[in-house]
Order: sequence, then structure tokens, then C-alpha cells
Amino acid sequence: MAVKISPSILAAPLAHLAQAARDIEAAECELIHIDVMDGHFVPALTFGDQITAAIAAETKVPLDVHLMVARPEIEAPKYYALKPQIITFHYEATTAPIRLAEQIRAQGIRAGIALNPRTPVAALADIVPAFDVVLFMSIEPGFYGQKFIESSWSRLAELNKLKNREHAAGRKLELEIDGGVSDQNAAALVQGGVDILVSGSYLFKGDMKERVRKLKEAK
Ligand code: DX5
Ligand code: ZN
Repeated sequence: MAVKISPSILAAPLAHLAQAARDIEAAECELIHIDVMDGHFVPALTFGDQITAAIAAETKVPLDVHLMVARPEIEAPKYYALKPQIITFHYEATTAPIRLAEQIRAQGIRAGIALNPRTPVAALADIVPAFDVVLFMSIEPGFYGQKFIESSWSRLAELNKLKNREHAAGRKLELEIDGGVSDQNAAALVQGGVDILVSGSYLFKGDMKERVRKLKEAK
């Protein structure tokens, strides 16, 4: 299946989010990646459910909500009414990941689990059947525009094994990568098993249509 592109709107000019949402739609992206940061789980504070609702009102592109928050069980329900396609929360931020995944799925929303670059992939082995998406960070969460961490390649190989195991058991699982994605690494990421490419600074630093096309050419 062709790779899906999820532009990180955090890297857009933030006073012009409506225009950014329209650009993402015009570039025929499958998703809009919304980086929710609470100033606790990560030092930065970005946007919450109200700004996300305002973005959603500007476009038909489905939302891909990435919660970088300390209490996802409190925050996630605020997004249910917006009917995002995916709500992802961090493994490091909760002690009850399966319960929250079940709640998200019960809303008809796909549940995602995010892993920081230093969290072992093995942590997911038992809980992954509760999820539809694994988002693995190839940068430290908190800011866009950072350099891709090279150890992500061996993590991708491990995650792809987990994905194949899930597929063999008749379950669907998609791999989403977030951080430092560009035309320089997209092809190798897709070959390695990535289904969804998040990209912020690469897409917003140039002609978005042209750059989305380049990422989608990656096979
Ligand atoms: C970082 C965010 C990422 C980031 C990606 O905490 O989760 O989504 O905005 O931006 P780039 O593609 O510039 O690394
Ligand atoms: Zn993100």
C-alpha cells in the first residue's frame, strides 16, 4: 500500500493555521498531524483541543492527534467529539495503556501508542494487539526541525518484526515515524515497513505539493 503523509502543522506559520490546513488538503495528504504538548511531559506548550477544533473546521483531511501530555487519560477524551482518525498517546505517560486504547477504539477512533527514542521496542510486545498504530519518535519529542536519530533504523527493523507478527495473527498494525523525515530518508523508511510518514519542517520549508509528491514517490 502507498505510504500516507501526515504533515506536522506545528511547523507551519502558527498565526496562519487555516492556510496551512488548506495547503495540506491541496497537497492531497491523507492526514494532518496535530502535536499536542502540555509543558509537562515535554517542556514546550503548543495547542489543545480548542485550536484543534478550529483547524478541523477548515479542512476535510482527517486528524492524526499526537498527545505529548502527562495525563493522556484526562486529555484524550477532549478529542473524541472531533472524530479524529487516530489518537496517539505516549507509552511513557501512562500506567494503563490498554484501558485508554480500548476507550479510544470504542469511539470508532484508531488508537496509537508512541515511543520515545530511548524506550525499548520490547516494551510493546504484550500490549501492541490493543493498538492500530505505533508511532515511533526518531527525534526527542518537543520540537520540530531536529536531526533524525540514526539508531531509529534498528528500531524500525524490530518494529517491523512486531508488525509482521501482528499481521500473521490477523491483526492490522501500522507503523508511523515522526521526526526528521525528508526526501533523504523516506524511501528507506518505507522499504523498512513504515506506513505513515510525519513530516514538519521538510514540508513547510518548501513547496508543499512538490515535497509531498517526492515523499510519496518513495517506494
Ligand atoms: C515533535 C513532534 C513532531 C515534529 C516533526 O515533538 O512530535 O511531529 O513536529 O517535525 P520535523 O519533521 O521537522 O522533525
Ligand atoms: Zn508528532
